[in-house]
Amino acid sequence: MEKRIHHPYLVSKVMSAEQAATQIRPGMTVAMSGFTGAGYPKAVPLALAVQIEAAHALGEKFALRTLTGASTAPELDGALAKVRGIEFRLPYQSDPELRARINRGEIEYMDMHLGQVAQYTWFGFLGRLDVAIIEVAGILPDGRLIPSTSVGNNKTWLDLADKVIIEVNSVQPAGLDGMHDVYYGTALPPDREPIPLVRPGDRIGEPYLRVDPAKVIAVVETQGPDRLSRFSPPDETSIRIANHLVEFFRHEIAMGRLAQQLLPLQSGVGNIANAVLSGLRDGRFQGLTAFTEVIQDGMLDLIRTGTILTASATALSLSPEGVEEFGRNIEFYRSRIVLRPQEISNHAELVRRLGCIAINGMVEADIYGNVNSTHVAGTSIINGIGGSGDFARNGFLSCFVTPSTAKNGAISCIVPMVSHVDHTEHDVAVVVTEHGLADLRGLSPKQRARVVIDNCAHPDYRPLLHDYFERALRNSPGKHTPHLLGEALSWHERFIETGRMRP
Ligand code: COA
Repeated sequence: MEKRIHHPYLVSKVMSAEQAATQIRPGMTVAMSGFTGAGYPKAVPLALAVQIEAAHALGEKFALRTLTGASTAPELDGALAKVRGIEFRLPYQSDPELRARINRGEIEYMDMHLGQVAQYTWFGFLGRLDVAIIEVAGILPDGRLIPSTSVGNNKTWLDLADKVIIEVNSVQPAGLDGMHDVYYGTALPPDREPIPLVRPGDRIGEPYLRVDPAKVIAVVETQGPDRLSRFSPPDETSIRIANHLVEFFRHEIAMGRLAQQLLPLQSGVGNIANAVLSGLRDGRFQGLTAFTEVIQDGMLDLIRTGTILTASATALSLSPEGVEEFGRNIEFYRSRIVLRPQEISNHAELVRRLGCIAINGMVEADIYGNVNSTHVAGTSIINGIGGSGDFARNGFLSCFVTPSTAKNGAISCIVPMVSHVDHTEHDVAVVVTEHGLADLRGLSPKQRARVVIDNCAHPDYRPLLHDYFERALRNSPGKHTPHLLGEALSWHERFIETGRMRP
């Protein structure tokens, strides 16, 4: 194994994952690294799962409160959920096993804005952090840590946890050294100062994470790859969504509301977001920047081709091919990518100052432009709100994208009333499906409804939505936002009862 640990005291703390895991006791709050399947600890959570299972076999209770940056992988969320090792989890997840258990009521899950986790922890709202388990790419002679493929909440976890376990992963490229920018200037009110970042690529901190070596109880050497998501090539639906958005950006340039370089892009997770980025690669946009959370393959491609000059994020969430490309040309990418703590990548102050263009996926929107990003039929969580709220509320333009239907047309993603609200009509500027784009800026609720139905709904559902809206207009007692309250969620009820939203 390549030598990655250069601090003599921390070398003395090297042990196996199994030994390190024994330091974690039932009921502890364990804060871990990891953001969209990147930079999460690969070995200690698995060893912990084995110990938890053994404790359960003896009839002992053993479950933890687990906090991370965002989603992790089967080796962490999946493994711990499977052995009933998690009693409480925040702030974001996307693991099938964990999701199933949350939706069965076995795990308490707090789904929160990713940009607010650090301050919540500093405020003390999340209680005491017993242990932090953090993956890094190396340890310097002075004990500072070279961050891995995600920074997430690691700075906060390292600062606040009573004890620290470090995983040093030698599979992570040594060339990551120098790519990060960790800002140590945040403070609690009333002592806050403006964050001195005015362009996406500004470096305002230092490349390394600090840790008090006296708190480090174990160092574990690992050699595991990140989750490495595969992206499906853009299908016809996502290409059409991307085209609508690209056409809209051109229109905004023509109207003088956007420059040729647009404004810093934030792009959400998932295949559609990835496809939208591919849509920007048509050569007509140059000199773009990104101020976002995650760099997926689509964005890496835009950086490679020179369409995006600088990208700021908190994690690199790439496919195996993306990792290969990144590793081959790491010097090139190091001068163009900055990885920051998520309290900075998602900071309301910075998103507002830079004027980000936020593009996020959604589950459904209603005719008035309220958006549900998280729940199926108002009750079962899919993933979580992630950073979409940090960017939607504070950005210059807040765009939400979705196919017009889900589950082979059984579900309309444009509904009379959303079954759960993550983004209110006040935070949603643009809704896009493969059928078109609804620009909701400057419109009243009733004006919005017509544009959303006509431009975004699937033709099979459009007459039903018009019928609902016109009857609501006639019958609603208070007509600012007309609704038929007894009927507003009947589409979801019908889906639960019959498997389809249409009568
Ligand atoms: N009702 C029920 N299920 C729906 C649905 C609806 N209205 N719309 C989509 N779905 C289901 C899809 O069928 C699919 O399920 P499957 O995996 O069983 O096939 C799943 O949700 C994902 O939908 P998909 O169309 O593949 O879109 P996606 O990969 O772009 O994901 C979200 C969409 C909303 C789940 C995803 O964007 C998300 O988690 N967003 C919230 C977090 C966020 O915005 N982060 C951005 C900053 S990181």
